[in-house]
Amino acid sequence: PIIPVILSGGSGTRLWPLSRPEQPKQLLALTAEETMLQLTARRTAGAQFAKPIVVANAFHAGQVEEQLAGVESFAQALILEPMGRNTAPAIALAAIAAGGGSDPILVMPSDHVIADVDAFHAAIQAALPLVQEGWLATFGIAPDAPETGYGWIQVGDKLTEGVHRVEKFVEKPPRDKAEAMLASGDHAWNGGIFLFRADMYLGALSVYAPEMLVAAQLSMDKARREGARIYPDAEEFAASPANSIDYAVMEKAPRVAVVPVAMGWSDVGSWDALHAISECDIHGNVCRGDVVAIEAENCLVRSEPGKRVALVGVHDLIVVASGDDILVLPRGRSQDIKKIIEAMKKD
Ligand code: GDD
Ligand code: MG
Repeated sequence: PIIPVILSGGSGTRLWPLSRPEQPKQLLALTAEETMLQLTARRTAGAQFAKPIVVANAFHAGQVEEQLAGVESFAQALILEPMGRNTAPAIALAAIAAGGGSDPILVMPSDHVIADVDAFHAAIQAALPLVQEGWLATFGIAPDAPETGYGWIQVGDKLTEGVHRVEKFVEKPPRDKAEAMLASGDHAWNGGIFLFRADMYLGALSVYAPEMLVAAQLSMDKARREGARIYPDAEEFAASPANSIDYAVMEKAPRVAVVPVAMGWSDVGSWDALHAISECDIHGNVCRGDVVAIEAENCLVRSEPGKRVALVGVHDLIVVASGDDILVLPRGRSQDIKKIIEAMKKD
């Protein structure tokens, strides 16, 4: 079976004040009653999947365990990193925990939305034969903006039904390059989801990032185990260079395939993105929590229990009340949260 690997180590700041270091995006219920992590785990239900391996920061162990306990496909292993070294080493730990053999692993971020799970599963099936032959596969999303925060894929020749060669992989391009790729018509966004044999990934690391592989291997050799929890050795893991799978492997590996797929994918990277994918009421508002909205239109409003947010006569606002913080900004400006984070750092 395919072994799902769920990456849950990110520390997203773009959904401040709801996402915070102690509660990053994947541990929040943003789009449904369940958290992004729980929804991700649910996506791996079915006979073709083994129980997932979850890789998270040790700091979040309790929360991750509690959230996964509510999902039937509870993790077979919970790898708890002593510190973040980005996605390439995190996936190495999981590939080693999976046995490092020819079983395919499906690497999934824990903080994305996939509305059409059947389309996702079909894309996985389409990629599987080539993956078994040793290809690294990724999933391509039709782009609709010159995003500089994504990886871009130039879609090459058809390999098999629904699967294409990756002509070129460009991680996080500058704006002008992203605009050119958007206009070209033959590019896709990298969805951040990968399918490959564990041995093929570890083999690629041995070529392109050997120090990372050694650090991951030693930290797993010396790992401490407590039930489903695996604590890689902190000193050995700290020695790993930090890098993402995209820069460390995908941009370099020769046999990379892409499956273009329309599956209602969103990485929910901003409050605007959340508004765009959420169901609105008849006034175009998306309200969650204790909210009173009078003559308000096209707003996104969130509050927590015991904290009432009341709006009257406003439109196109984002208002989020969480803890001691209140965020107010016009729709379309949610990328500017990074300015707020910067300003708070200076305080
Ligand atoms: N366990 C673990 N440890 N998980 C991590 C770590 C880490 O050190 N760093 C990141 N993650 C998790 C995040 O929680 C997220 O679920 C996933 O790995 C991807 O990391 P991001 O930091 O969100 O990557 P990105 O958004 O900048 O870029 C990636 O995703 C894009 C699509 O959303 C790339 O794959 C891009 O090419 C892609 O377009
Ligand atoms: Mg991301």
